[in-house]
Amino acid sequence: MTANGHFFQRRQAAAVLKHGVLKRYPTVFAAKTGLTSGGKVVYLDGFAGPGRYEPQEGQVEGDPGSPLLAVQTADTLANINRDLNCVFIERNPRYAKDLQATLEKEAPASLQYRVREGDVIDHLDEVLELAANRPLLAFLDPFGTGLPYKDLTQRLLARPQQWPTEVLFNFNLNSVTRTGGLLNDTGPDRNGREATLARIDAFLGSDWWRGEFRAFRQQAETEGQRRAAAQAAENVVGVYCKHIFNDTGFRSFPVPIRRKPDEAPLFILILFYRHLDAPYEFNWAVSKANEEWREHVHAEEIFKYEAKSGGQEDLFGGVLTRTYLEEHNAESASKLAEEWVNTIASNIEELVTQSPSVSVRDRTADLFGTTLGLARETHLRKAWKSLAQQGVVKPIGKGKLIRQNIYRAE
Ligand SMILES: C[S@@+](CC[C@H](N)C(=O)[O-])C[C@H]1O[C@@H](n2cnc3c(N)ncnc32)[C@H](O)[C@@H]1O
Repeated sequence: MTANGHFFQRRQAAAVLKHGVLKRYPTVFAAKTGLTSGGKVVYLDGFAGPGRYEPQEGQVEGDPGSPLLAVQTADTLANINRDLNCVFIERNPRYAKDLQATLEKEAPASLQYRVREGDVIDHLDEVLELAANRPLLAFLDPFGTGLPYKDLTQRLLARPQQWPTEVLFNFNLNSVTRTGGLLNDTGPDRNGREATLARIDAFLGSDWWRGEFRAFRQQAETEGQRRAAAQAAENVVGVYCKHIFNDTGFRSFPVPIRRKPDEAPLFILILFYRHLDAPYEFNWAVSKANEEWREHVHAEEIFKYEAKSGGQEDLFGGVLTRTYLEEHNAESASKLAEEWVNTIASNIEELVTQSPSVSVRDRTADLFGTTLGLARETHLRKAWKSLAQQGVVKPIGKGKLIRQNIYRAE
C-alpha cells in the first residue's frame, strides 16, 4: 500500500483542523453570499475522497470526510433558505463509487449534488457553467500538487467580480519539500526527475520557485537539512500567494496545519478571497477549528500515555496521571487565552497611536497579529473592553464587532 493509501484509514490531527474549518466556513460563506443569488450557492469539492474514513476500533462507521461535512452544511443552510448545490470530483474509481454510495445513503433527499469520477481539471467547465450566476466556494485538497496555476488563476479565480468566488486550498508542503530535494540532483534523469520538476512548475506557475527554494533553504541551513527544506517550502507558499494576488487580485489567508504544536507545518490551508469581510469571518472558523485540534492533540497524548502503560494502573491507580494531564491541558488553554487577549490589547494600543480610528473589518489581521487563526471575537472583545476601562479607547458600540471602528479615547 502506498503512503497515500493509508490516508483514509485513520483521521490524523491535521484532518481535524481542516475538517473543523470545513464544518464552519461554507455555512458562513453561503449565508452571506446567497443574499445576492436568491439563496443559490455552488460548492465544489475537487479532491473529494470516499466520503468517510475507515471505521476505527470501537466505531461503527468512520469519521466523516469532507463531502459529508458539506452535506451537513447543506442541511443547516436549508433552514435559512440557502440552496447549496454540491459537486464532488474524485479521480480514484473505487473512492468515487464509495462516495456515490455514501451520499445516496446519507445525503438529504432535497440536496442537489453530483459525483464525478475523473480529474478535477476535466470537470471544471461543468462546475463553472453551473456556477455561472451563483457564488462559488471551491475546496481543493490534493495529496500532492493541486490545480495547475493557469487553471486556478485563469479559470476558477477569473470569474466575474459580481459573483463571489472563494477558494480554500490545502497546500501540501511535502510536494514542494520533496521536489525541492531534486534540485541538487544533476545526475542522469533515471526516475523522472525532470517530469516531477515540470509538474511543480505547472502547479506554481513557472520555474520561479526553484531559485526561491534554493535561496530560502540556504538561509535556513543552520536549522538542519529537514527544517531548512520545510522552511523553504513555507516561504515558497508565501511567494506563490503574492503571485496569485498580482495575477488575479485575490488575497490570501494562510493557516498552518501541524501534527503537533511544536512541529513544522505539513500543510498550509489557504483561503483565496476578494471580499473584505472574509478574513474576520474565516478567522472565526479557523480559531474554533484550532481549538478542536488542540483538544484532539491533548486527547491523543492521554490515549498514548494510557496505551504505553499497557492498561496497567500506575502507582495512583492510573487516575492521577490522567487527571493531571487533563488539568494541565485545561490550565494551558486558559493561559493561552489570557496571552491572546494581552497580545490583541497591545496591537490595539499600537494601532490607535498610529490612527485615531481603526476599522475592525479592514484591519483584522493587524488587530489579531500573531494570534490570527487562534483568537477570535471573544478575545478581541475582552482586550477592547479592558483598554476602554483604562481610558485608552472608547467603549465597544452597539451591533456587530466587524462593522465597528475602535476609536482612540480623546
Ligand atoms: C487528501 S485526499 C482528499 C480528502 C478529502 N478531501 C477529505 O478531507 O475527506 C485527496 C483525494 O483526491 C483524489 N485525487 C487525486 N488527484 C486528483 C485529481 N487530479 N482530480 C480529482 N481527484 C484527485 C485522491 O484519489 C484522493 O482521494
